[in-house]
Amino acid sequence: MYPSKVTITEVGTRDGLQSEAVFVPTARKIAFIEGFAAAGLRRIEATSFVSPRAVPQLADAGEVVMAVRDLDATIAALVPNAKGAARAVEAGVDEMMVFISASESHSQTNLNMSIDQAIAAVEPVAAIARENGKVLRSAIAVAFGCPFEGDVATSVVSGIAGRLKALGIRSFTLGDTTGMASPRHVEALCGQLLQDHPEIDLTLHFHNTRGLGLVNVMTGLRLGIDRYESAAAGLGGCPFAAGATGNICTEDLVYMLAELGIETGIDLEALIEVAKDMERCLGRPLPGQLMRAGPRTRLHPVTSVRRAVG
Ligand code: COA
Ligand code: ZN
Repeated sequence: MYPSKVTITEVGTRDGLQSEAVFVPTARKIAFIEGFAAAGLRRIEATSFVSPRAVPQLADAGEVVMAVRDLDATIAALVPNAKGAARAVEAGVDEMMVFISASESHSQTNLNMSIDQAIAAVEPVAAIARENGKVLRSAIAVAFGCPFEGDVATSVVSGIAGRLKALGIRSFTLGDTTGMASPRHVEALCGQLLQDHPEIDLTLHFHNTRGLGLVNVMTGLRLGIDRYESAAAGLGGCPFAAGATGNICTEDLVYMLAELGIETGIDLEALIEVAKDMERCLGRPLPGQLMRAGPRTRLHPVTSVRRAVG
């Protein structure tokens, strides 16, 4: 009924950190990524080669990638334009992700471009990827709804995927940027995309803004989708989308998958330690739940609580 194996892309130092106002030192970002790889995460979206004026937190993208590119993990990064692609190649990424919004309003706030302009900007990025032997993937932001415009028709998302496909892209991440997806919607949109574009590979990227993150993953699993993106400690959010909050939490996702008997290759306890480090670094409680409770196999001495006597 479910896939036997799931591939997780860790986005904690990209989506996770991009809204953080206080600059996280480059060495800490690198240490988080090293921790992810050591915990068995084999796909890491490490950073974004975007304008440092747009996202000051990720101004150190080049340094971060140079320090982690030889880890035993595929290192991916977001690139919005040819300039970003050139920087990403120079730093030594394995993969580049272009990102197109499914609504005009979010395209403007996020990229300062219309959807048409943003798709046109993918062409030179695709050429740079081709010339340098880099895998090019794509993400469609606000695919499940836009905080400015509301519902986004499945046909709009499918149309954007078709136009990106014409540029040679086969890998699509559906981004639920502000947690507007729900199970019926996941079924409808993924069903439509797989029907219109059966050859593509689909990754789902949920935010837990309204508490439905892992429920949406369950729906994806039932549809046979075996690629998900998540952020350690449940950090995350897009500064260019109103009301955006944390990604689904990687440890919580790994735990759920393990309980379903689905393999991820990730060492849960090791990942929890990285999530706790992130929480200490940011100095406030983060949304991840497993890092507090531990897996259900973690037992406590009976003497650790009071005995209720009447
Ligand atoms: N890396 C570094 N600098 C970049 C850049 C990149 N990828 N793209 C543009 N710039 C610089 C330009 O060189 C220019 O600098 P200058 O003024 O010193 O000459 C400046 O940014 C403006 O360039 P322009 O092409 O006019 O960009 P813009 O102001 O219209 O912004 C984007 C467009 C795409 C660069 C910007 O909106 C962006 O980076 N968006 C990403 C947002 C994001 O990360 N969202 C989260 C992911 S969902
Ligand atoms: Zn996101």
